[in-house]
Amino acid sequence: MPIYEPGRRVAIIAGVRTPFAKAGTTLRALSAIELGKIAVSELVHRTDLDPASVDLLVFGTVLPSVLAPNIAREIALMPLLPKRLDAYSVSRACASANQAITDAADQIALGHAHVAIAGGAESLSNVPILHSRGFSDALVAASKAKTLSARVQAFAGIRAKDFIPITPAIAEPTTGESMGQSAEKMAKLNGVTRGEQDALALASHLNAAKGTADGRLIAEIVPVMVPPRFETAMTSDNGIRPDTTAEALAALKPVFDRRYGSVTAGNASPLTDGGAAVLLMSEEAAKAAGLKPKAYIRGYAYAALDPGEQLLQGPVLAAPVALKRAGLTLKDMDLVEMHEAFAAQVLSNLRGFESQYWAERAGFSAPAGAVDHSRLNVMGGSISIGHPFGATGARVTTTLVNELERRGGQFGLMTVCAAGGLGFAMVVERA
Ligand SMILES: CC(C)(COP(=O)(O)OP(=O)(O)OC[C@H]1O[C@@H](n2cnc3c(N)ncnc32)[C@H](O)[C@@H]1OP(=O)(O)O)[C@@H](O)C(=O)NCCC(=O)NCCS
Repeated sequence: MPIYEPGRRVAIIAGVRTPFAKAGTTLRALSAIELGKIAVSELVHRTDLDPASVDLLVFGTVLPSVLAPNIAREIALMPLLPKRLDAYSVSRACASANQAITDAADQIALGHAHVAIAGGAESLSNVPILHSRGFSDALVAASKAKTLSARVQAFAGIRAKDFIPITPAIAEPTTGESMGQSAEKMAKLNGVTRGEQDALALASHLNAAKGTADGRLIAEIVPVMVPPRFETAMTSDNGIRPDTTAEALAALKPVFDRRYGSVTAGNASPLTDGGAAVLLMSEEAAKAAGLKPKAYIRGYAYAALDPGEQLLQGPVLAAPVALKRAGLTLKDMDLVEMHEAFAAQVLSNLRGFESQYWAERAGFSAPAGAVDHSRLNVMGGSISIGHPFGATGARVTTTLVNELERRGGQFGLMTVCAAGGLGFAMVVERA
């Protein structure tokens, strides 16, 4: 039994993910639980980790299975891991894997755990489909009925429209506004042009294509045998378009505001399936296991704003706080990884970092500053690679620490925007 000392540095040892696949394509037959298991088991194998040493498994998902809602525990129950492994699930919309990582890191820093696996998974090919209120009421009444005739009677009031299933919408419950509509609004409020959005989307695809071709992204991916025949392996993300051009992007029609809009299928992140996991350890546990940390967590912060205002502007409020907690400034960052829900959101966030107004709202007297585009999302982002909601935070963390190591950089910042007007930022330091 190790002696737990509180206040320890939390090391990021490694991260791995499945390939990311556009929803309804290659990985559609795999559930989020299966995608998560693939990422976690590969992480254990790649790091040669003793499964018995894992104290905690935290996993994020946004649309959990109704039949198995605690995805973390389902993953922990795979044969590779000990049955006594404590595991719980978290949900913070697109920052769910970040919540898993910071929860696990907090447990390590508190001295409650030495070794933790954290990550997330999403299968947007397998979203839960709900019955209408009328049909659900009839089913409940039928299940309580004591006689066959009462059971039949329970369905008597059903109308044709009650048979229409309800699928989850990517919209804010409080405002009814979809993510895409929010991105449109942010583009207009922040003066982000269609040309700027398409340029960012193009850079995302070209950077991801380069990272795939030279093996940097492939190195983060575990090949997945594709069901149902398991004859072929998927080894890379299928949303990246190496042949994308500015002209092709400019030709796409706006989706969410067809007449005056600027957000298209080309400059938005696609609906995606995938899973990702990260191994976190206390410094001394890593040393004892002979594992070399890639980075340490220096500081993180979450923030929130009114979802009816600028839904995806949360990172602008979180990043200055994370930097302050890390004792650093934006200028110190060698790399910046921003989750790309939409190009309009990334560009609005970047404008916010430079704005006096947003600095004051975050509680600071001066703006964080400008992000050098040559340090931003250097291996692509969610627009090109894809965005399985629950998994993205672990992908971003993995890429950031790997690329910091490759470049010999010292500090990296990551940000993730999320539904509900939430924002996340974390600063890491290369080990
Ligand atoms: C924007 C959105 C509606 C587009 O969905 P879609 O229409 O199924 O997207 P597709 O991939 O089929 O692309 C539509 C068209 O654009 C084209 N296209 C997309 N990206 C392109 C690119 N980079 N270059 C050239 N063409 C591109 C496709 O080839 C397709 O053309 P086709 O109709 O001739 O086949 C969908 O991706 C979406 O809802 N995204 C946002 C998800 C979201 O809100 N996430 C939450 C954020 S946190």
